[in-house]
Formats: sequence, structure tokens, C-alpha cells
Amino acid sequence: MEKILAPSILAGNHANLKNALNIAEQDGRKWIHLDIMDGHFVPNLSFGPQTVADLRKESELFFDVHLMLDNPHIYIDAFAQAGADLITIHIEPSYDHLKAIDQVRKVGKKVGIAINPGTPVDDILDLINSVELDLILCMTVNPGFGGQSFIHDVLQKVEKLAAIRDEISGNYLIEVDGGVGPQHIKPCLNAGVDVFVAGTAYYKGTDSERRTFSESVGE
Ligand code: DX5
Ligand code: ZN
Repeated sequence: MEKILAPSILAGNHANLKNALNIAEQDGRKWIHLDIMDGHFVPNLSFGPQTVADLRKESELFFDVHLMLDNPHIYIDAFAQAGADLITIHIEPSYDHLKAIDQVRKVGKKVGIAINPGTPVDDILDLINSVELDLILCMTVNPGFGGQSFIHDVLQKVEKLAAIRDEISGNYLIEVDGGVGPQHIKPCLNAGVDVFVAGTAYYKGTDSERRTFSESVGE
């Protein structure tokens, strides 16, 4: 399966997010990760559909939109219209997950489900068995802020999700997000990760460090 490094624009300069897009494009990246926070499901705020729509006009990158929201279903249409290509919603909050997944499908977008570090794979088994998912995001930090430390234990869940995918001949990509740096690529690849979100480690580097980082993913 194809391996992808998705820079997280959260780590860019928010007065000039276009620059963060340009850096990723010039580095040859295909995806960009956009973190949306509601100050409720996570203790922070980021940006909304207007920002995503304005960035969309500036870029052809695949927009990987991660909704860290208590009520994602209310915002699915807005982010789809803003230009998201993939919309990922969390399993932890209470809302009709199946209905929300269907809603993403109906607006013609790819759909992902995210689990926090403390959430077991068992909590999404029913979903995995009842709907087709394009992506499963395993958070490798507790969401809310960039620049935290990668939680290694999450790779056990990645291994489990990779094994389930084989068993059911599923097609979902497995993504990790949070604290990912070049030193984590190898163990992540061994566990079965397909998509690597990297904010701080990606944007703090030089062009040549970014190059090496991207090459280590094999993209
Ligand atoms: C957490 C975010 C972050 C972020 C990645 O709420 O989802 O994980 O985009 O940023 P770094 O790579 O700085 O952890
Ligand atoms: Zn994210």
C-alpha cells in the first residue's frame, strides 16, 4: 500500500498558512492535514471552514481534514463544501456515528474514523464490520496541541488494525497523528502505518531535513 507523509498545517504560521501549504507542495507532498478543534472535545481552538475554503483556492493538495469536535455531524457539509477530500471524525463523542459516516459519503468525500490513545480498537469493531472506511486514525498524542510526545504503545493498536484489515480484506489506510518524527517512521512502518501526520517535526526542519523525512516514509 502507498505510504504518505501528511504535513499538519497546525504547526505552520497561522498568519501565513499559505506558506505552510507552499512548503509542503514544493517538497512534493500529496496530502496536507488540517486539524479542526472545537474547544470542547479538545481543550483548544484552531480554525474553521472559511480558512479551509481559502486554502483550497491556493492548493491542489489532498485535504485530510481531522475534525476534533463533539458534534462533527453539524459541520460535515460545511467542510465538504470548503474543499475537504477526506473527513475524519472521532469515535469518542456521542452522536450517530453511522449516520455521520453516511453523511460524509453522501457529499462525495472519503471518510475516516479516529481513536484517541486511550480508546481501544474494540470500540470501533462494529463500525469496521458494518461500513467501509477509507481511513482509521490512531492518535499518538491526546489531541489538542501540536508538539507533544509520541505514545509508542499506540502501535499495538496499529498492528491489530492491520491484522483486522487482512482478515476482512479491508481497504482502510491506517494513519498516525501526534508527535511523529523521523525516528518513529521505521517502527510505524513495521506496525502497518500508511499515513504519517507530522506537524512540529516537519515544519521545524530545513528543506533538506524535510526531504530526508519524506524519503524515510518512502513516498
Ligand atoms: C493534535 C493534533 C496534532 C498535530 C500534529 O491535536 O492533531 O497531533 O496535528 O502535530 P505534531 O506533529 O506537532 O504533534
Ligand atoms: Zn490531526
